[in-house]
Amino acid sequence: MSENQNSIFSRPLLFSVLVLAVILVGSIVTAFYPLARDDMHPRIEERTPYTAIEFAGRDVYLREGCVNCHTQTVRPLKSEVLRYGDYSKGGESADERPFLWGSRRTGPDLSRIGGKYIEEWHLQHFVNPQKFAAVSNMPKYTWLADRLVDASATETHMKGLGLEYAAEDMTALAEMTELQALAAYMLSIGRGVERLSLVEITYEDFDTNGNPASGQDGAAVRGRQLFVSECSGCHGIDAEGDLAMPLTGLGGTDMDEGYVFVTIAGGFEGMMPNFVSTMTRMQIGSIVEYLKTLNEDVVETPEEVTTDMGSAEPIE
Ligand code: HEC
Ligand code: HEC
Repeated sequence: MSENQNSIFSRPLLFSVLVLAVILVGSIVTAFYPLARDDMHPRIEERTPYTAIEFAGRDVYLREGCVNCHTQTVRPLKSEVLRYGDYSKGGESADERPFLWGSRRTGPDLSRIGGKYIEEWHLQHFVNPQKFAAVSNMPKYTWLADRLVDASATETHMKGLGLEYAAEDMTALAEMTELQALAAYMLSIGRGVERLSLVEITYEDFDTNGNPASGQDGAAVRGRQLFVSECSGCHGIDAEGDLAMPLTGLGGTDMDEGYVFVTIAGGFEGMMPNFVSTMTRMQIGSIVEYLKTLNEDVVETPEEVTTDMGSAEPIE
């Protein structure tokens, strides 16, 4: 008789039963028990549910396949947090059905788009993305401006998911275009998540380091090129004003360089993006040099210019 005969390895039935028991206990402890715990389903308390109009916009986003070019998840990597803002938290997705995390970034991540632009920017960008980024391969969604939201489909969808909505919101929805709904959805993304900026340039910082492009050959010309590609969509091709105010009055000998430099670096929450995370100080400085050259013959403010940030008027 070999001494192995009593070993568990020579008893297939017992061995199988024990293996099953181990796998079962392991699965319960590592998978099923956590699934039932509340802290595995975090919520962001400040995040309010979608309104009917935002939800309708989300349906347009799904239908048009925006998710094929855009992700909605910022990974916890420094480069991503620098570019987009705070990384995505589990709680942000609590009410997302289906998730729109995406897997492909032909265009930038959108999970922090909500606090970045004004509504008017989105309305114009969807109709003509190339106005804001000349080389953009994002399609023009012109037809969305002519299509009214299908309110009954939105209602059915919201009911199906058990989401609450106000009856008067639903009535208002019937008069909205899909373009407006999509913009409302954009403004709602990332709501409840504090905006985070890893780098900033302060006035003290500027006082110490100054403008590195100051007095450099060709700085104003390079600044002009950057201005056309990065700023002209909002401030006009010659800084004459468009969605945002003209900058032609800023130039001249009494220009407050520090103010302009720090403003370009930091932007304005919800209105103008910050550029400190996408541009070097030299580049920001070059734009300042360009803006300096715009003075004296101040261009008239065009009639249409609006700096009203809360406007819900459709564009004509
Ligand atoms: C073919 C790929 C593609 C598709 C499809 C696409 N986009 Fe884009 N999108 C881009 C690219 C590239 C950019 C960056 C350049 C620009 O601003 O146009 C961009 C930029 C954006 C921005 C500005 C992001 C920022 O931080 O400045 C928003 C908002 C946006 N897209 C929303 C949408 C929505 C909503 C849809 C669907 C209706 C959509 N996109 C469809 C490629 C795409
Ligand atoms: C998405 C649109 C947008 C883009 C892009 C943008 N801006 Fe702005 N900018 C604004 C808005 C809106 C304001 C006004 C904010 C306010 O009223 O508080 C503003 C204000 C400013 C101001 C302050 C003007 C003043 O008189 O106080 C400066 C300077 C400025 N922008 C420069 C730039 C430069 C340079 C760029 C490109 C690198 C740029 N902006 C890109 C929207 C934009």
